[in-house]
Amino acid sequence: MAVIADRCPEIQVAVVDINQARIDAWNDADLSRLPVYEPGLDVVVGRVRGRNLHFSTSVEEQIALADMVFISVNTPTKSKGLGAGQASDLRWVEACARTVAQAAAGHTIVVEKSTLPVRTAAAIKTILEAAQQQDGQQRTFSVLSNPEFLAEGTAIRDLEEPDRVLIGGDDAAATEALARIYGHWVDAAKILRTNLWSSELSKLAANAFLAQRISSINSIAAFCEASGADVREVARAIGTDSRIGPKFLNAGPGFGGSCFQKDILNLVYLCRHFALPEVADYWESVVTLNTWQQHRIAQLVVQKLFGTVTGKRLAVLGFAFKADTNDTREAPAIRICGDLLEEGAQLAIHDPKVVPAQMARDLKQEAAEAADALNGTGSWALAQSVEEAVAGADAVLILTEWRQYQQLNWQELAARMRRPAWVFDARAVVNPEAVRAAGLTLWRVGDGEG
Ligand code: UGA
Repeated sequence: MAVIADRCPEIQVAVVDINQARIDAWNDADLSRLPVYEPGLDVVVGRVRGRNLHFSTSVEEQIALADMVFISVNTPTKSKGLGAGQASDLRWVEACARTVAQAAAGHTIVVEKSTLPVRTAAAIKTILEAAQQQDGQQRTFSVLSNPEFLAEGTAIRDLEEPDRVLIGGDDAAATEALARIYGHWVDAAKILRTNLWSSELSKLAANAFLAQRISSINSIAAFCEASGADVREVARAIGTDSRIGPKFLNAGPGFGGSCFQKDILNLVYLCRHFALPEVADYWESVVTLNTWQQHRIAQLVVQKLFGTVTGKRLAVLGFAFKADTNDTREAPAIRICGDLLEEGAQLAIHDPKVVPAQMARDLKQEAAEAADALNGTGSWALAQSVEEAVAGADAVLILTEWRQYQQLNWQELAARMRRPAWVFDARAVVNPEAVRAAGLTLWRVGDGEG
């Protein structure tokens, strides 16, 4: 919405939420304190806030004024009831649709921005139409699907120069109204129009394909480690085939983020619903391999450290699910650290952007210095710097590819560690020669030489 406001100065954009604290945070005079850390977002918000971008809790009032309403609430995986663990929880989408149905005035175009299961638009339409009939008010609705393809960390660039914009819908006038907004800065040829269901499915399919690539390269990484090959060489070799392409072939600790797993499991659930068990199993294996990769990394840390990490101090560098974000949803660090805590390790966790309260929530354990190192109870503490994290550590684990971890002074860090000392580089960001020259033993994901 900030980018739309930036690119379309004549359009007034109102972002509303029922959560006063969150809206207050978006209105914070100090732009470095916006609730989402995203490179460049503060600059855009700073430019347009108060001009044609407004944050408020006046939900009904703004809906009544709006020509177009974007539903942009979260759709997490259901934790209980029918479809638990796989289906999307649509309670917030439905609540929004009902609020829009009640509060709208005149003709309103309702745009699904949240990632939704295929055919959700039908449910939204039914709710809106029911409201239309209920009180005989003069209000009408068109429903469009306009999924978002931005990735965190590169969101502003992805929005300003999208590969494509997708608009699904059967109301041509509504589709064109939305296309005109994007047309302010996106090439006409990049604005794709489909029917509603294709648009909804394309979002799930795009994420499923992207996640599948990561599981594919991670499966080859494990094979490289076993067979003496190097996954980076393999990735380069296969990526030069123009049909495969070079992007998204970085082996790592498994994908995280709020979308890939959720969207694939949603696809799996829908496949089962439509009696396609083989298709469901196929996609489910992408998630299974991802989970396995995370456990595999925790296990090999334990194995290499003589079969036990109880009482050992391990420096964990990076907690966010990728660099340039403070988001930890489904971060591989959560599962890997969880396994190591279970093994009795003492973790010193460093991340340039993730706050310790978030780490405590994710690890389901408060930070604490271990009282008795060998009593088998794992513990974790925040490290303010990399130097602090590695002090006295037996091993360093790199779990997020923050730029600063690519430029570490290993001679200096090695001097602070307990010997024999290890570096486990799950993101392949370090310079192997520099690590080895510092007298450290290195394991790198997908490196059969390590
Ligand atoms: C992903 C998609 O890339 C976006 O197109 C989509 O809009 C978004 O989900 C969404 O549905 O909201 P995002 O999760 O922000 O974006 O980040 P990605 O860059 O896709 O990374 C996802 C995970 O895969 C991260 O943990 C990342 O470290 C990992 N990854 C990515 C790899 O392990 N290797 C790679 O080569 C690329």
